[in-house]
Amino acid sequence: MKYPPPVKKFPHILHGGDYNPEQWLKWKDKIWKEDMRLAKLAGINTLSVGIFSWTALEPEEGQYRFEWLDEVMDLLAENGMTAVLATPSGARPAWMSRKYPEVLRVNASRQRNIHGDRHNHCLSSPVYREKTSAINSLLARRYRDHRALGVWHISNEYSGDCHCPLCQAKFRQYLKDKYKTLDALNEAWWSAFWSGTITDWDQIESPGGPGSGGHNGIKLDWRRFTTEQFVDFYLNETAPLKKITPETPCTTNLMTAGFSGIDYFRFAEVLDLVSWDSYPRWTSAEGNAEVGLRTSYAHDLTRSLKRRPFMLMESCPSATNWRAVAKLHRPGLHMLQSIQALAHGADSVQYFQFRKSRGGPEQHHGAVVDHEGSENTRVFRDVAELGQRLKSLDALVGADTPARAALMYDYQVRWALDDAKGFLQENTGYEETVINHYRPFWKRGIPLDLIDSRQSLDKYSLVIAPMLYMLREGAADRISAFVRRGGLLVSTYATGYVNESTLAFLGGFPGPLKETLGIWCEEIDALFPGETNSIEWNGKSYRAFDLCELIHGRGAEILGSYGGDFYAGSPALTVNNYGQGKAYYIAARTDGDFLDDFYRKIGAEAGLTPLFDDLPEGVSAQVRGGDEKYFVFLMNFTNREQQVSGQPALAPFEARIIERSSL
Ligand code: GLA
Ligand code: ZN
Repeated sequence: MKYPPPVKKFPHILHGGDYNPEQWLKWKDKIWKEDMRLAKLAGINTLSVGIFSWTALEPEEGQYRFEWLDEVMDLLAENGMTAVLATPSGARPAWMSRKYPEVLRVNASRQRNIHGDRHNHCLSSPVYREKTSAINSLLARRYRDHRALGVWHISNEYSGDCHCPLCQAKFRQYLKDKYKTLDALNEAWWSAFWSGTITDWDQIESPGGPGSGGHNGIKLDWRRFTTEQFVDFYLNETAPLKKITPETPCTTNLMTAGFSGIDYFRFAEVLDLVSWDSYPRWTSAEGNAEVGLRTSYAHDLTRSLKRRPFMLMESCPSATNWRAVAKLHRPGLHMLQSIQALAHGADSVQYFQFRKSRGGPEQHHGAVVDHEGSENTRVFRDVAELGQRLKSLDALVGADTPARAALMYDYQVRWALDDAKGFLQENTGYEETVINHYRPFWKRGIPLDLIDSRQSLDKYSLVIAPMLYMLREGAADRISAFVRRGGLLVSTYATGYVNESTLAFLGGFPGPLKETLGIWCEEIDALFPGETNSIEWNGKSYRAFDLCELIHGRGAEILGSYGGDFYAGSPALTVNNYGQGKAYYIAARTDGDFLDDFYRKIGAEAGLTPLFDDLPEGVSAQVRGGDEKYFVFLMNFTNREQQVSGQPALAPFEARIIERSSL
């Protein structure tokens, strides 16, 4: 299966990044021309412009200055580049905040922010929406037929929330639309607890300020509402673009690694293309394999948001300025991190940033062109070497990832767990657990999709759903149907406790999955740090820690049991034959050794074949393609030479691409 390239008329891997020529307006004759020369020399074929340019475009209300951008767009076209053209709402002119304070965000303590920072706007403000829509319309009209126009980059890294009166009113409306009656709302929030019953819609206040509520229902709804606010704001931004330039895809740069404030699966529904900003925390040596794994995970999650190729909108060719230790990339790492993105589904390698800004908050952030200004730097050479290599990879553009196994990561489940008291409330370890279940597949070279609990499971033979604490509408039915049809399911402790409103399932956990899993979970034990139990399975003893559930078989076969404490001998690992399929249940948190052994068995049962027989530690393999044309990626995240059977030795940090006609 092949998808169209991000820019339809430009079927190449995009290579480039954020470019801020407006910072060099006074020196444009020298710098801009030199930028074009350097970009071509580095094999760059795209630049992202206009991301924070509002003041340069509209220095005073209604007074527009597009001439400089015209010139930049023309330069890009003349030099054979495609533009990722941004809407400027990520930061705004001071005149606007002064004249219309409502555009500024209000924090949870109900204080209005002052002007100055970027990413600081109210999501409801009619003025801000009108202003963004106006400038976006002008941009679209001006460049609709421009040869350089490739992709719309909407705003920048949407995040945060706003608690102003306008947002409060919208929140109440959202709740009215959702619940219709206060009775329904009160039941969903279980508001009789602590006298929280709402008797008038106007009593509802967004959560988070001093003394504000501990009710999980309202917190969860606020997070959902905030996601809808971004969806709505994005749709407001894109409406004129869709009308004027319907052929040009729109995307916005997400922060897939480490940010959970927006339900990105929901958000992805309105994006034409998914894109994200990747800044792995590479260390100097040993730790890189783990960083590689986590970066792969974030790429896979990004790709899975729409289950199709994505854009790597930002990455850094050198040191990342905002890290506590802004370490240089070791030789080879730039190539490796870039090919790694392609391996997991990226159709672009883009940077923050092309040319280092001379001053300002990010003046020391790695860039293709340093303050020194020439092509004679190590980083420039790294980028140019990659640029050269990317030119031979056109055939990769749009290639699918043939994953037959899926691992669930659900933003809303994470929110529900984060807000739940009990278990391990300071750190539920939800995403960490998902990553732990991802690791055995990464280590063995078996591709995975990362999906949330609302996605279809049709294309998979194995579905892993760790800690599916909240069963959202329809999730239990989809999962059960998947097993009934012959699928293999792996579930774990902390599954099926609450419904979509966070109300506990009555009648025993794991709620509506009880029958599918053939168990009843009676209690869950949280262990202090350092405390351990064990799971005895297959003649081996594996460490169990953090969370141990006390479960009973209700039809399931008991495969493993606890080794210690008052529940020694009781079930800890079960399997249930259900319909044509099987459902496994791991009742306790374990280390990687258990998961490695377990998934070796399960992977074989599900018919998943690793890309190579035995990958050494720190070497990963991935694949893209289909229809007898596959690209297999072999990547060495260690600083040592590595041997993979049937392959020439891999140099330290080498990223190799091998073409195969079958898997
Ligand atoms: C983010 C932003 C960029 C820049 C980089 C620096 O991803 O989108 O504007 O600040 O970080 O790492
Ligand atoms: Zn607001």
